[in-house]
Amino acid sequence: MNMIKPHGGLLINRVDTDYQVDGRNKQVHLDQIALSDLELLAIGGYSPLTGFMNMEDYQSVIETMRLENGLPWSIPITLPVSEDTASDIEIGSTVNLVHDNTVYGVMTVTDMYIPDKHKEAEKVYQTIDAEHPGVKKLLERPNVYLGGPITLVNYPQKNRFAAFYLEPSETREAFRQLGWKTTVGFQTRNPVHRAHEYIQKTALESVDGLLLHPLVGETKAGDIPSELRMECYHVLLENYYPNDRVFLSVFPAAMRYAGPREAIFHAIVRKNYGCTHFIVGRDHAGVGDYYGTYDAQKIFNNFSEEEIGIKIFRFENSFYCNKCESMGTSKTCPHDIEHHVSLSGTKVRAMLKEGKLPPKQFSRPEVANKLIEGMSKTLTEAGQ
Ligand code: ADX
Repeated sequence: MNMIKPHGGLLINRVDTDYQVDGRNKQVHLDQIALSDLELLAIGGYSPLTGFMNMEDYQSVIETMRLENGLPWSIPITLPVSEDTASDIEIGSTVNLVHDNTVYGVMTVTDMYIPDKHKEAEKVYQTIDAEHPGVKKLLERPNVYLGGPITLVNYPQKNRFAAFYLEPSETREAFRQLGWKTTVGFQTRNPVHRAHEYIQKTALESVDGLLLHPLVGETKAGDIPSELRMECYHVLLENYYPNDRVFLSVFPAAMRYAGPREAIFHAIVRKNYGCTHFIVGRDHAGVGDYYGTYDAQKIFNNFSEEEIGIKIFRFENSFYCNKCESMGTSKTCPHDIEHHVSLSGTKVRAMLKEGKLPPKQFSRPEVANKLIEGMSKTLTEAGQ
């Protein structure tokens, strides 16, 4: 069976756990984002990228949402280091990529450049507001970028979710074995609720399988931890999903909160994992009021379907309608907003913290109970 082609045509694999690291190499410290990026580069999630971006690709991605060779790519994949670290590194040298005293990878430094972060913020996040969590991170990270091909020598996140950690080559093989010709990917960073379930199942009506692919890399403070979100998925799948048509696996990337630009990135990366379709709903990867509700759908109009290569399932804002007694959107429900059950994330978090179940029209009780349990445990552990 022919699987969908990876972005750029070739699935990258730059993992070499037998690699003999030279302890005399200069060390470069990776933050959580860079560590996630290293992993995704190596396992082929970011195919055709083979390393952190050089200046030409970086500038091209910022300006045009394309790599220098013209291939669509919307988020810069960069390795920021301090001026001090940079002054000690020679172009052409191999550096060890280190986090918490463990070497996770090596990189041959082919480029070193000073980014215009103001421009990066404006282009990628559409704002220079330092309150935006993505912009805040961008500004906090050091000011020199290193570029060059990497090798992963040690998996950072593989043991966290053990059975649910699959590389793109493995999800591709799994879909092949399941006989799925079409698979829709679902990105998520929030606890699963009924609007998610509705759009997932609506999409599933048109394809062979669903890849539930919760992001488990770094998220902003206040977001629900990935371990708890995974527990919610387990109870939801046990109770409400046909288990032969759904595949749950983790996506080890960090969240950027770049809204529209991140939607393109999320779609392309899921193509590398073997998905033929990808869901983009309301305010995908958005935060606060920085992006229009459907900007993350509209941005795909800048590209032809062929060059993105994965088909986009666009969904309107979904809700439970008390009059229809079912889930729907403005495309399918004629009733006034007063009949619709929709709650903000903040409201739901407040309810859960008080041990109150959100209405079952909003969240499956099994899921809400898991969240209450998990959140009270987190609060107890934090001594609150
Ligand atoms: S995201 O940052 O990963 O996009 P979230 O986990 O909330 O956040 O959303 C996952 C996917 O579901 C995204 O495609 C988002 O657009 C979509 N989505 C979330 N809530 C709704 C809703 N009420 N109606 C339609 N789509 C939604």
